[in-house]
Amino acid sequence: MKAVVYDAWGPPQEALDLDQRFPRAFIEKDSDNVLVKVMAASVSYRDFREVRGDFKSVKSRAMPRILGTEVSGIVEAVGERCWKFRPGDSVIGIVPDGAMAEYVSAPEMHFVRKPKNMSHLHAAAFPMCGLLAFQCLYKYGDLKEGEKVLILNASGGVGSLAVQMAKYKKATVYATASKHVEMVESLGADEVLDYSKCNWWEQLRGYNFDLVLDFGVGYSAWKHSEMVLNPSGGRFVTIVPDTVDGPVEFFNYMVGIPMRSFFAGKRYTYVDGVDLSNYDHFIYISKIVQSGKLRPVLDPDSPFEFTPRGMRAMVDKLATKHTRGKLIINVACSTGQSV
Ligand SMILES: NC(=O)c1ccc[n+]([C@@H]2O[C@H](COP(=O)([O-])OP(=O)(O)OC[C@H]3O[C@@H](n4cnc5c(N)ncnc54)[C@H](OP(=O)(O)O)[C@@H]3O)[C@@H](O)[C@H]2O)c1
Repeated sequence: MKAVVYDAWGPPQEALDLDQRFPRAFIEKDSDNVLVKVMAASVSYRDFREVRGDFKSVKSRAMPRILGTEVSGIVEAVGERCWKFRPGDSVIGIVPDGAMAEYVSAPEMHFVRKPKNMSHLHAAAFPMCGLLAFQCLYKYGDLKEGEKVLILNASGGVGSLAVQMAKYKKATVYATASKHVEMVESLGADEVLDYSKCNWWEQLRGYNFDLVLDFGVGYSAWKHSEMVLNPSGGRFVTIVPDTVDGPVEFFNYMVGIPMRSFFAGKRYTYVDGVDLSNYDHFIYISKIVQSGKLRPVLDPDSPFEFTPRGMRAMVDKLATKHTRGKLIINVACSTGQSV
């Protein structure tokens, strides 16, 4: 089958290849796995960093690997222990073994039904990003109705969904972006600061946020959020697996800031990926999408073709670090099917 793969860490422009003869995904008969024909898949900056080898010391991965983790597609076959889906069902899901391929397989609990009011192209944009945004806001961030939240990097795949989810729960939302300030405002944010023109921690000092979410900044967000968090009960949640420069910064990042803040009544959490054991979260989000209250944002250059040229264009766009929402690959275009 065709798949976007890499077999060594390196610059994504060089390491990635559209392999035409990658072994096709399959499922064991006696399993709870589903085989899905992929219609569309999405990619984020984290995937880019993964290919580069930024996390190789903490996550050893067998090579070759398929790029991406989020798909929308149609169930082709199910293992004997599956009970949720049948062949022909449209699903969206999270595929840890890689998404950008004609077929993928994963346990059925990694999938939910695709919202009917949405194309595969849009639906591929939110399985992991949506779940991550939801869990950062509510599971780790404990956001309550009417609280005040600051979302750093609100224009990416995760941030653009988090803004909408926080507004859904009637939070007051402040956000940061630069090229995409207007887009974030259009999602309902109450105020959007351009991080290229001002320091948010100076502008918002003393605003006493109940929650600060970091969806792309890293060390500087840990350091400066102290200045804007509510001194009693403020929470900070980050998903950025940052690489820090030296041992002193590393200690400060992982131990110093959280300890200091803990004694000052704040809580710091690093979230290393979605928690798939909370299947009810997945169902909940797809219901909000179904209700029309949550819409994934696609980068204007999406979808990319599932061809060597399309793959290169997608990687070049990702490298700019200014993608808007999600980058999508139209996998089914290779077979001429409508998505
Ligand atoms: N822990 C996990 O499981 C996990 C999973 C997925 C992603 N991540 C991480 O989460 C982060 C967000 O991923 P994503 O896919 O949602 O977003 P993304 O695609 O990386 O975000 C792109 C956006 O980042 C903004 N941006 C760039 N530099 C910024 C800065 N210094 N401050 C604020 N915004 C900045 C740009 O906005 P403007 O163009 O408006 O400037 C651009 O629209 C990444 O760091 C990724 O590695 C972690």
